[in-house]
Amino acid sequence: MSTVQALMKEYESRLVALRRDLHMHPELGFKEHRTTEKIKATLAEFGVTVLDLGLETGVVAMIEGSGDGPTVALRGDIDALPIQEENEVPYKSTINGVMHACGHDVHTTSLLGAGIMLARMRDHFRGRVKLFFQPAEEINEGARLLIDHGAMQDPKVEAVFGLHTSPAIEVGQVGVKSGGLMAAVDTVRITVKGLGGHGAIPHATVDPVVASCAMVTNLQSIVSRNIDPLDSVVVTIGTINAGIANNVIPEQVSLTGTARSFEPSVREQLPELLRRVVNNSVAAYGATAEVEYIYHLPAVYNDSALREVAATVVTEVCGEDGIVEPKPTMGGEDFALYMQEAPGFFYWLGTGNKEKGFVHQWHNPRYDTDEGALPIGSAVLALSALKFLAK
Ligand code: NI
Repeated sequence: MSTVQALMKEYESRLVALRRDLHMHPELGFKEHRTTEKIKATLAEFGVTVLDLGLETGVVAMIEGSGDGPTVALRGDIDALPIQEENEVPYKSTINGVMHACGHDVHTTSLLGAGIMLARMRDHFRGRVKLFFQPAEEINEGARLLIDHGAMQDPKVEAVFGLHTSPAIEVGQVGVKSGGLMAAVDTVRITVKGLGGHGAIPHATVDPVVASCAMVTNLQSIVSRNIDPLDSVVVTIGTINAGIANNVIPEQVSLTGTARSFEPSVREQLPELLRRVVNNSVAAYGATAEVEYIYHLPAVYNDSALREVAATVVTEVCGEDGIVEPKPTMGGEDFALYMQEAPGFFYWLGTGNKEKGFVHQWHNPRYDTDEGALPIGSAVLALSALKFLAK
């Protein structure tokens, strides 16, 4: 333990330099070539082995302890967003229209910090720690890719830990919660079909626009009338596309949306509920509809047994007052996919600081992080692995 504390101090300025370098050179999903090289170079410096999984971007590395034991994985996502940074800071993004506006520079740095700590401490633990520097989280494809390339196997990963920055939590604190933390994310595609015609002769048409408008309104009754009020669900229609002219009733309307939920049993009901409301709503207008419901990502559901590990870790790094019980969010995270393969725990790393103005939400062009969180994030990840392996 004292070793982790000492390493936090020893590498603090190095972590800030790493994070600023990454922040200045953000790269979008599956384009993280420079970031990948930076990660590999830093790992090489500390003698950490990179596994050859045939990845174009992203890195899976492994640190072997001093004896045989289980394997635990730590994950950090590395991609940025298509956002123009509005912060005026020395480490402002140098890439036009691309920004680390979701803190993945902090995640990458924290995982590098954890890797450095564990490499320095490899005589102090048994077993293995895999490091997942995951590409393309923002487009929900990177975790799937790493799993498909065998990251969770050979040796088989028995637990996985990860973290996300939280501007809502002050630096020095970490969100620790068992159960649902981030929602399951599903995609809905709907096509409403009618019969097109002249806008002045509506009785000779089947108007899919009017049918769709009623349908969108009715869809909100799923949450208010069909789902237990104590369970959380969101149904959002995000796009509606139809028509070419003001006086033409179109043939069809295309809609897309997102459905969010936590409980698997609730999630299972959603496709049928959506189909029922869609089909019956448009039928009232003589139209027909096709509904495609795509299960995209499961919920980030923290393992209750690992919560004890997590609570011990955060208490040791941040003290008794370091733990906050966060409110879950209906946002999603593809970290959930690793949790389908092994029990996992996902932390929210406090990066906010009201006094210093680190208050902006994720994906905001002024999003930024109190860098005091970097050694904390590193230590939380490193200690999670050490505590799990020592169990
Ligand atoms: Ni993110």
